[in-house]
Amino acid sequence: MAAGESVTLEAYLDRWAGGDADRGAVAAAVRAISAAGVGIADLVARGPLEESLAKIRGVDPNAGGDAQKELDVVAEERIIAALMPTPVAFLASEESEELIPVNPAGRLVVAVDPLDGSSNIDTNVSVGTIYSILPYDAAAHASPKDAVMRPGRHQVAAGFLAYGPATILVATFGAGTHVFVQDRASGAFLLARENVEIPAETKEYGVNQSNVRHWDAPMKGYIEDCLAGKEGPRGKDFNMRWVGSMVADAFRIFTRGGVYLYPGDKRKGYAEGRLRLIYEANPVAFLTEQAKGGATDGRTRILDIAPHHIHQRIPLVFGSKAEVETIASYY
Ligand code: AHG
Ligand code: MN
Ligand code: MN
Repeated sequence: MAAGESVTLEAYLDRWAGGDADRGAVAAAVRAISAAGVGIADLVARGPLEESLAKIRGVDPNAGGDAQKELDVVAEERIIAALMPTPVAFLASEESEELIPVNPAGRLVVAVDPLDGSSNIDTNVSVGTIYSILPYDAAAHASPKDAVMRPGRHQVAAGFLAYGPATILVATFGAGTHVFVQDRASGAFLLARENVEIPAETKEYGVNQSNVRHWDAPMKGYIEDCLAGKEGPRGKDFNMRWVGSMVADAFRIFTRGGVYLYPGDKRKGYAEGRLRLIYEANPVAFLTEQAKGGATDGRTRILDIAPHHIHQRIPLVFGSKAEVETIASYY
């Protein structure tokens, strides 16, 4: 690419797909999700003018047991509508207990967190959309669920949009992780960084430290050692950042390194942490590994974990590779 020349997501996907039908299907899905994201970003940007979007909906929690906000559901509806004309057979979503049939002739299954960071919706803090794309072959998979419930290493593409000061798309198609930014003048996503690399070492961690009393010994030990700074066993002073929207914390890590931790803890319902394996941990782990970082549940590489439930949770540590390995060594 010549210096200064801007590459649109459209052009990038066309070039990547070439004439390949499998890649063409993935490109169509990513185009649809990013288009839906632009609409969601517009809603998010209305902030308190659309206060009703931040309201908790009814009394029933979503499939994962979390309170569902209006915007969680609107975001899901927009994604389903956008995927309808694409070769996506089924959609798994945080907001729906069961798989959603999309296009019976489809050759892909997609898993999404339609709105990540719901607790930040009404606070003018970045929220986002996370997606994971897997192949689907009606003849080879016993059921659509079987196609979704595969270890994350089978993903063919993954990414997330973050709706913040800039609307960004961080995407991988299996060879590197790339950052696109929506250009407000033209509306198009432009390639901003190709093949991002997360620095292997870091002095910055992100964790909800208010849960320290609920953590297990390895996790407590790791944070204690970070807090001990230069005088402690780690021999360096650490900094902490925690947005509370994983997409925003992840983008910071893709930009300057760091680690994100959401371990399992002793609170009811948190034995496996908070993040969902199929549509949160897997796509972020795929993006992270493609950016030379690491992702683990403390003991096992995230991408090697065989799911047992669409909405299962998983302890998640991802980011700078050497630091992720250090954390795993505490387990
Ligand atoms: P979601 O809004 O999709 O339920 O995900 C929220 C996740 C993640 O984005 C964030 O890092 C984490 O939950 C925050 O959890 P705490 O509120 O427990 O800190
Ligand atoms: Mn989420
Ligand atoms: Mn969500």
